[in-house]
Amino acid sequence: MSSCSSLGFTCWLTGLSGSGKSTLAVEIARALDRLSIPCERLDGDIIRTNLSKGLGFSREDRNINVARVGFVCGLLNKYGVSTVVSLISPYQEAREKLRLYLPNFIEVYVGAPLEVCIERDVKGLYKKALAGEIPEFTGISSPYEIPENPHLTLRTHEETIEQCVDRVLEYLYSKGFIPKY
Ligand code: ADX
Repeated sequence: MSSCSSLGFTCWLTGLSGSGKSTLAVEIARALDRLSIPCERLDGDIIRTNLSKGLGFSREDRNINVARVGFVCGLLNKYGVSTVVSLISPYQEAREKLRLYLPNFIEVYVGAPLEVCIERDVKGLYKKALAGEIPEFTGISSPYEIPENPHLTLRTHEETIEQCVDRVLEYLYSKGFIPKY
């Protein structure tokens, strides 16, 4: 496609803790930077220290978190700034709302299996959750609803980060969101 949309897009990574969302988001944002695509990264761990400070992990609070970040994405996208989001965003209902709310919404399911995430346990949180020290922990004591119809599925246990990023870029290009890279 020769022309690119003047509206920004939102590349929304959803998946379990430890599935690789943040790592992928950093690399996707880097690749977009190299293409001079204005872009902002919104990461769950960071958002929860400011915009969503004080929210917990109940279904309601998680959905509020998702809606807030979606709102910010809408503002940025409107002015041509694209967004790369890494949030567990475990509930289908909240993600469906994003799909309706954001005109250029791309749902990317980062689909590493729970056993792989437990094995990685990058932050040591699964160990604590399995020991009952963290209530409502996604995948252990709180549900993760697998996206029914994501635009893309990335399997970080089977593909390298580079391959995953490439597939995202290819998708963005195929939709006319970015130029040939
Ligand atoms: S979301 O469910 O509301 O989308 P979000 O992505 O913002 O979650 O935050 C998840 C991060 O919070 C995890 O990466 C982890 O570091 C931390 N965390 C703390 N408690 C929990 C919990 N009960 N469930 C999941 N993640 C938790």
